[in-house]
Amino acid sequence: MNMSEHQRRAYLEAMGIDVWVPRGQDDIEPDIEVPEVRAGGLDWQALRDCVAGCTRCELHAGRTQTVFGVGDPDADWMIIGEAPGAEEDRRGEPFVGRAGHLLDEMLRTVGLSRDSVFIANILKCRPPNNRDPKVDEVAACRAYLERQIELVAPKIIIAVGRVAAQNLLGTDAPVGRLRGKRHLLGEVPLIVTYHPAYLLRSPSQKRKSWDDLCLARSVVRELHA
Ligand code: URA
Repeated sequence: MNMSEHQRRAYLEAMGIDVWVPRGQDDIEPDIEVPEVRAGGLDWQALRDCVAGCTRCELHAGRTQTVFGVGDPDADWMIIGEAPGAEEDRRGEPFVGRAGHLLDEMLRTVGLSRDSVFIANILKCRPPNNRDPKVDEVAACRAYLERQIELVAPKIIIAVGRVAAQNLLGTDAPVGRLRGKRHLLGEVPLIVTYHPAYLLRSPSQKRKSWDDLCLARSVVRELHA
């Protein structure tokens, strides 16, 4: 059956599924000037090189190295966090600090390992003092993440924490409202959950994150059925 985009959205909305369209360069606020980056079409190595040499925002000046992403390039699950912290900046790998260890544990509870998923961040460079990413930094890095998503072609994306969820979905709704349901990023199902750094501070919320991962697992199983 050929369905128009309008009909497809109407069906999805009737099923209670929010449809989000990836933010393009058009959505960048007009007073922010970000030179165009052409990551589209790059293969893994070219994309890696491009990220490693990136000077598109001021964060490049303070980094030890870029933090590209890690894991299975053909993974079914793609985990997207916010930005590297101090430990990640030192080691060049996402989620290797305390929050990262908790993320590993959370993945284990649904039968996954760090090596079986692909883990990336909204930003590839560490913001100073772990401050929130700025709008121009997110815009400067966006094409890299979009290309990573295209190359991995995951069956599900897990947006970990507020910054990842809000930037991927183009909303300012809080995680508490976004979690616990299925979204779509383009064609890819997306589940929002709490950031493990938040769970370290609020362990009573871990159960909700586990529920979110179980929901994600059921979405992937549905796709295989
Ligand atoms: N927090 C994130 O969001 N990403 C990391 O890589 C580390 C901590």
